[in-house]
Amino acid sequence: MIKENLRVIDQAKSLVRHVVHEGDIVVDATCGNGNDTLFLSRLTGPRGLVFAVDLDEEAVEVTKAFAGRIPQLRATVLNHREIGELLEDEGIEDDVKAFMFNLGYRPGTTHELKTSARDTVLALQGAVAHLAPGGLITVCLYPHSPEEINAVLNFSEELSGEYSAFLIKRINRKDPPELLVITREEA
Ligand SMILES: C[S@@+](CC[C@H](N)C(=O)[O-])C[C@H]1O[C@@H](n2cnc3c(N)ncnc32)[C@H](O)[C@@H]1O
Repeated sequence: MIKENLRVIDQAKSLVRHVVHEGDIVVDATCGNGNDTLFLSRLTGPRGLVFAVDLDEEAVEVTKAFAGRIPQLRATVLNHREIGELLEDEGIEDDVKAFMFNLGYRPGTTHELKTSARDTVLALQGAVAHLAPGGLITVCLYPHSPEEINAVLNFSEELSGEYSAFLIKRINRKDPPELLVITREEA
């Protein structure tokens, strides 16, 4: 896995590829410029369902344009702390195969709008509640937000035994980005 690419987002994608299949329901919890949304849309195909949210209206527009005319895409302006409510409104219970979180700010912007510890932990609570058995959550964490990293790791350490939380981190580099992976046991 590491050989494939050293960027945490590429490591996240290689794990997601193992569990997500055509027809699955998935969530991009921080769609930004739409790269991860497009990746998820290709994996799930026309029978799948991809929810993409971002607090930034422009990001949602960019994602819609970038991901093209994908019928299975639901791109919405939303604070990701409300992701659980959105899924409940859509009648989705615990059948989301993967959530991708890529934290921080949208590349190419002024960095004013970035994810926060509080909202991200609330979003993760919603994600865990809707995660399918055998599904996974990936969270790319960046060193410019130590408070958010601590909050996310504290939350993950407290998860019940049905879930497993792993941290992937390049230890021969100062302040590396980190990849948190949460999985739920198979039914
Ligand atoms: C690193 S970027 C995501 C990159 C994106 N996945 C891509 O493929 O281009 C982080 C995104 O999180 C968004 N964001 C910040 N706070 C948020 C929140 N509370 N809820 C949802 N999105 C948020 C930012 O607007 C930004 O677009």
